[in-house]
Amino acid sequence: MAEMTHFFPLSAYKAKVGLDETYRAQLIENVENDFEDKEFDYKADDTAWTGDVRGFEFLHLRDIYEPLFRTISGHVREYYKILNVAGDVFDFYYTRTWATVTQTQQDIPAHRHKQSHITAVYYLNFPEEAGKLIFEPDWDHVQNESIPGLLSGQNVKNGLIQPSMFLSPAASIDIATDDVVIFPSKASHGTAKSNSREKRMSISADIVAVLKESGEREFFLPPLDKWKKFA
Ligand SMILES: [Fe+2]
Repeated sequence: MAEMTHFFPLSAYKAKVGLDETYRAQLIENVENDFEDKEFDYKADDTAWTGDVRGFEFLHLRDIYEPLFRTISGHVREYYKILNVAGDVFDFYYTRTWATVTQTQQDIPAHRHKQSHITAVYYLNFPEEAGKLIFEPDWDHVQNESIPGLLSGQNVKNGLIQPSMFLSPAASIDIATDDVVIFPSKASHGTAKSNSREKRMSISADIVAVLKESGEREFFLPPLDKWKKFA
């Protein structure tokens, strides 16, 4: 029997956060307030409401979110531990954090968080049929695509390839309320269309890693207190 060895994967971390129900309800109310502040006609829009482009991109500066982000920080450290990365070399910063609200028949098209290193998403509310989290491969660098053009949605439809962990145009993760998912910010991701009448709500967090000490290291961002803004 032949043996296959797999390497160079894209990995996403998922864990249950165990947030107190009362606190989670308070956060949902907080998101609802922002959501209602803006007159967003969801019926006219087939993409979800995302707070980052509506003036609500610094949730980490609000006191009410402090316990949530403190908990997420622990999961980010755990994620690095699993990946065997010496996370203690870095200071981690929340740079941009925001809510998303998806209503029925809406989705979030595939995108990347280009300015960030690590992205964490906490699911405040994830009703059934709310639309899975979907990842796409880095299309120009698919290691197993030996014949250029082999990997495409069309080739899945016409039966040339069967999606698997070896070669797939997309992969999804099952999500439930109170899950946190962590992945590299550069990974292309989006959501499937929601078929739920209930709102799907998440909190996204973009995190940047900065060196604690840069003296003997060529790469990575040096400590923030050594930066100097143009006069
Ligand atoms: Fe995203």
